[in-house]
Amino acid sequence: MTSDVRTLEWTGDGLRLLDQTALPGRVEYLVARDVGTLVDAIRRLAVRGAPALGVAGAFGVALAVLQAGREGWDDAARDAAIARIRTARPTAVNLAAGVDRVLPFARKGAGAVAAEAQALLEEDVRGNRAIGAHGADWLRDRVGDRPLRVLTHCNAGALATAGWGTALGVVRELHGRGRVEIVYADETRPLLQGARLTAWELDRAGIPCVVQADGAAPSTILRGLVDAAIIGADRIAANGDTANKIGSVGVALACHAAGIPLVVAAPWSTVDLALPAGDGIPIEERPAAEILAWGGERTAPERVGAVNPAFDVTPARLVTALVTETGVLEVAAGVTPGDRRVRPSRRSDRPSW
Ligand code: MRU
Repeated sequence: MTSDVRTLEWTGDGLRLLDQTALPGRVEYLVARDVGTLVDAIRRLAVRGAPALGVAGAFGVALAVLQAGREGWDDAARDAAIARIRTARPTAVNLAAGVDRVLPFARKGAGAVAAEAQALLEEDVRGNRAIGAHGADWLRDRVGDRPLRVLTHCNAGALATAGWGTALGVVRELHGRGRVEIVYADETRPLLQGARLTAWELDRAGIPCVVQADGAAPSTILRGLVDAAIIGADRIAANGDTANKIGSVGVALACHAAGIPLVVAAPWSTVDLALPAGDGIPIEERPAAEILAWGGERTAPERVGAVNPAFDVTPARLVTALVTETGVLEVAAGVTPGDRRVRPSRRSDRPSW
């Protein structure tokens, strides 16, 4: 089974993005040919999800180099534009990491930058396939070799990556093995990435799924209707604390209470070994209007404000397993990404432990 979703594609002079704000109603693409368009697309979540942001950031450097040439920018103006891309959203470490990875190629020109960004894109898809296989094997061994009832939160699928997906990569692999009974897709407030994007992807792939309100997730888990929760991540600290879409902590607590695994599926590039623990992860605060209004109509009283954090941090002790392209770490049992014995060599596709 393949994933037919092309989230990002370099056109030679621009970055073609599947506009995720239009889904599921319309499949539309936008082409960013300048830094401003890309930064805007990142901020309004036309492109989103940690690995996809990393690849977008990498191609964004090529856009900045091209635009600098077209518009006669000096190095300072070009570097300022690259910094705008790098910091367009703060939580997913992949965005800055994608930019940093291709920066050394900038002096060789946009073609060299784009080639390295393309290598990152292809590594991401390969890595997601490996994550899917490792995660499905782990679930078979630890949960059971039978069709599973899986819960996921937000969208960690082909749309959130360069293709295939991390959490949904595991689900796609399980489905290919005939091991998915049902997927509960949390709708994901405030921007409905679960209801709009995850359900769209699963439906296209013929994987049975139902959407539920975020507030229903803990109850579904405690009622014994779920065998495992599988989520993605935006940044993972060295001790295994995991930032993901707001609401993930409630899922994690319910899994812990019900005695079922919480599986985090993410590429190694989402691990930030510079951060010892999750309290150092910057959490994006989104505009209050996203939760004070619905369909353009104000829902809360005019004088009431809002807090709108886009992410939360699940403590490592609630993360049963972290599945990366190089293998599985049983984090709650004490195997953390910061453990020197389990770190993979850079860009390795092969399990190193
Ligand atoms: O705000 P978003 O939609 O970018 O948030 C995305 C998530 O929280 C995903 O779960 C995470 O980035 C992992 S994507 C493979």
